[in-house]
Amino acid sequence: MADVIIAESGSMRHRKARAAKVSDIAFKTVLAQGSSAIVQRRSGKVRRVSKSEPPLWSLAGGLLLFGDQGEDPTGVLENGKLMARALAAPLEEEPRLVLARSFCTQVIAACWFAAQRKYPDAWPLPNRFLAPHNSELDSPSDLDPPAALLAQTMGQTAARLDPITASYLIGVTYTAMLPDETRSRLGVYYTPPGLARRLLDMATVAGVDWTSCHVIDPACGGGAFLAPVAARIIAENPTFTPRRLVRAIGDRVRGLEIDPFASWASQVFLEMTLMDVCREAGERLSTVVEVSNSLLAGVPQGDFDLVIGNPPYGRVTLSSGVRERYGRSLYGHANLYGLFSDLAVQLTRPGGVIAYVTPTSFLAGEYFKALRGLLGRDAPPSNIDFVSVRKGVFEDALQETLLATYKRGRKHGSATVHFISPIDYERMEVEAAGKFVLPAPASEPWLIPRTADQEALIAVLEAMPHRLRDYGYAVSTGPLVWNRHKTQLAARPGTGTLPLIWAESVTADGMFVFRAEKKNHEPYFKPTNGDDWLISRRPCVLVQRTTAKEQARRLIAAELPKKFLSRHGAVVIENHLNMVRPINGNPRIPPRVLSAFLNTAIVDKAFRCLSGSVAVSAYELEALPLPAPELLDEVAELLRAGAGRDTIEMACARLYARRKQP
Ligand SMILES: C[S@@+](CC[C@H](N)C(=O)[O-])C[C@H]1O[C@@H](n2cnc3c(N)ncnc32)[C@H](O)[C@@H]1O
Repeated sequence: MADVIIAESGSMRHRKARAAKVSDIAFKTVLAQGSSAIVQRRSGKVRRVSKSEPPLWSLAGGLLLFGDQGEDPTGVLENGKLMARALAAPLEEEPRLVLARSFCTQVIAACWFAAQRKYPDAWPLPNRFLAPHNSELDSPSDLDPPAALLAQTMGQTAARLDPITASYLIGVTYTAMLPDETRSRLGVYYTPPGLARRLLDMATVAGVDWTSCHVIDPACGGGAFLAPVAARIIAENPTFTPRRLVRAIGDRVRGLEIDPFASWASQVFLEMTLMDVCREAGERLSTVVEVSNSLLAGVPQGDFDLVIGNPPYGRVTLSSGVRERYGRSLYGHANLYGLFSDLAVQLTRPGGVIAYVTPTSFLAGEYFKALRGLLGRDAPPSNIDFVSVRKGVFEDALQETLLATYKRGRKHGSATVHFISPIDYERMEVEAAGKFVLPAPASEPWLIPRTADQEALIAVLEAMPHRLRDYGYAVSTGPLVWNRHKTQLAARPGTGTLPLIWAESVTADGMFVFRAEKKNHEPYFKPTNGDDWLISRRPCVLVQRTTAKEQARRLIAAELPKKFLSRHGAVVIENHLNMVRPINGNPRIPPRVLSAFLNTAIVDKAFRCLSGSVAVSAYELEALPLPAPELLDEVAELLRAGAGRDTIEMACARLYARRKQP
C-alpha cells in the first residue's frame, strides 16, 4: 500500500472549506504524491509520515484530514466524496461510469465487512447485479492504490454510522462521480434521510398500516426509502420473531431500479439495516430489488398498499408503446416524473397510498394538466409539503420540490399543506401552511398556500371567477427565438429594421426601457419575407417569462408604450417575454392599468400560490384568478390622478380582501 499523506485535526468548518477547493489538478497531484512520504503540516513545517500512521491525505498546499478514528465520520465521508468527484471528473463518460462503480463497490464492500466485525464470521456481500444486457460497465475494474485506499477508508468510516446515513453518504459519492450525461439522463438525485423519514411519516398519517403493507419503490436508487421502510416494519411489528420479520420484509418490500449498481447498493444497505435481525434469524434477506425499467416492467397492477419514491425527472421523448401506456396522463411534452406518477396510480391498490417526492411544476404547468386530472380523479392528494429552498437539498440539483401523499380512490375533501425547511440532510423545520381543495375540474392549476398567511388569500382566489380574458386579453409568448435568426440581428437601425424587445427591457420595477445590453443581444432586427408573424404592431403588456421564487417579484410587467410603438410602427418581441395582448382593439382594462396591477405585491402573492416552477407561462397567466374587471376602475382613476406606488398597492390589496366577488 502506498505511503499516504496528512492529517491535522481542526474544526470541521476549516476542513470543509479546504476540501471544497479540491480541484482536478490538486487531486492529480495527490495521486502523483501517492508514494511520497513527505507531508506538509498546517504550520508549514514538513514532516515524514511512516507507513504505520493512520491514513492521511495531503492536497496541494492545503491540508485535509482523512480517516482519523476520532473524527466525525460524516465529515470524513463528505471530504472523501469531494476527493472522489475530483478523481472522476476529468474522465470521459464511459471510464467515469466504470470508475464510479468500481470505487463505490469498494467503499460498500469495506463498509459491509467492517460493519460485521462484531459477529464471529462475515457474511459475503449479496451478488452483484448485472444489467439485463450484461454490460461490461457493470464489471468493477482495479483502482489505483491511492483511490483504493480512499475507498477503503470511506467504507470503514461509513460502518461507524447507522446504515441509512451510511447509504446516503456513499450514494451521494456515487452520484457525484457519475458522468453528468448519465446523471441527467436517468435523473439521479438521492433523497436525504431526513426527507425520506418525513415522507414515511406522511405515509403513516395517510393510512399505511406497517403491520401488513406491501410496498414498492419503482425508482429506488441507492435505497433511500427501502431501508427506512424495512426499519418501520421492524419497529411496528414487535411481536414478530426475527425469522418472520426477515421473511415479511422479503415478501412485502420491493424495489425497481434501472441502474444495476444502484440496485445492488439498495439490496446491500437494506440487508445491512436488517443485519441484527437476519443474524438472529440465521437467515439472509431474499433479493427484493430488481434491475428493471419500471416504465415498461410488468409489475402487477393494483397490488401495493404503498408506492413510495423520488422518481426521476426530466423531459423525455417516448416510444409509441410508452406513449400508449401512459397516454391518459400525457399532454404535450412528457416528463419522467409525470410517467412515474401515472405508474404509481397503476400500481396502488384502491385505498392504498402514494408517497412521492417530485418537482412542483405539475401543480400548474399546462403539460401536466392531464396528470392533474388523473390524480384528482383516481388518487387525490392528502398532504403536500413544500421544500422551502431549491438549493442544497438534493445534491447538485436546483429544483423546486415537494413531498406529497395521495390516496387511491379517495373522494377528495381537502388536503393539508406544510412548508419544510431543511437544516441539514437529517433535520428540518416543519410549519403548517393550511389546507386546500382541488379545483373543478382538477386538471386546472392547483391553488395551494405556501405559507400560513396564504390560506386566507386562497379562499378569496377560489371565489374569483374572472380571468385575463374577462379583462379583454389573451397571452402568448414573444415569437422570436433569437438564435434561429442570428444573421437578422442588428446593432444599429437601418432600412427595414425594427426594435427588438428583450426581457431586459422590462425592468424589475416595472418600467419599459429599450435596451440590449446583455451578451449576444442586439437592439434591432431585420425581418425578411415570411417573417410577418414575428412582428407586433399593437399595444400590449410585456411580462417576463422566467423568474425564480427567490426573486422579490415573480410577476414583472411593463406596458409597451404607445409612443414607442407609433414612433417605430412595429416591434419584434423576443421569446423570454410574454405578450399580454388585447383580444380586440379596446380591452375593458387599459394596458397601463393592467401593467400597474400585475406589478403589485398582492397579485404577485396570488401568482405564487399557483405557480410551481420558474416559468411564468401564458397558460398560468391566463389561469390566474382575478377580481371583477369593474373593481379595477378605481385603480385606473388613481393612475389618472397620478397616485404613487403605495396608493396603488393599497388599492389593489383591498380588491383581495375577503368579500363576495360580484
Ligand atoms: C431521483 S433518483 C431517486 C433515487 C432514490 N429513490 C432516492 O430517493 O434516493 C431517481 C432514480 O430513478 C432511476 N431511474 C431512472 N429511470 C428509471 C426507469 N425507467 N426505471 C427504473 N429506475 C429509473 C435512476 O437511476 C435514479 O436512481
